[in-house]
Amino acid sequence: MIRVIYPGSFDPVTNGHLDIIERSSKIFDEVIVAVLKNPSKDPLFTMEERVEMLKESTKGLKNVEVDCFSGLLMDYAKKKKAKAVIKGLRAVSDFETEFQMALMNKKLNNEIETFFIMTNSKYSYLSSSLVKEVAKFKGCIKDLVPQKVEEKLFEKLK
Ligand code: PNS
Repeated sequence: MIRVIYPGSFDPVTNGHLDIIERSSKIFDEVIVAVLKNPSKDPLFTMEERVEMLKESTKGLKNVEVDCFSGLLMDYAKKKKAKAVIKGLRAVSDFETEFQMALMNKKLNNEIETFFIMTNSKYSYLSSSLVKEVAKFKGCIKDLVPQKVEEKLFEKLK
């Protein structure tokens, strides 16, 4: 049984994240989508809202669970008995940071691997930050986030 963790801020979840979750769920037995409680960031959505939007967006995927964590990812992954961490890679610009994090995580726990999944090309430019910026100025974010997330974003930014 291979359980993996897909960590992130998910502020909010985008269709790019969902594409990675869906593809991971076809390969691994169990995928835990883990939302980071990060005191150094000032998210638009509360932890509860982010978890709720993820649960709603992944409810059709039976082997996907949504959870939250604080502290080190490797400590959380070990506690959950996960064998690996999944990361999505968009552009080359993601590579450097992800490479650094993967090596640091490997140093912290040599038993847990990091797997990278290349983004679907149609989402290669997509990020939660850009979606929030476009929504702030009432731009079109249809096709970039699930409809319920779109509604919540416009409601939040009203
Ligand atoms: O969606 P994000 O904000 O790019 O996700 C970043 C995340 C949550 C994957 C990363 O910040 C993380 O793993 N944080 C946990 C803290 C940690 O373990 N840091 C040390 C190793 S990099």
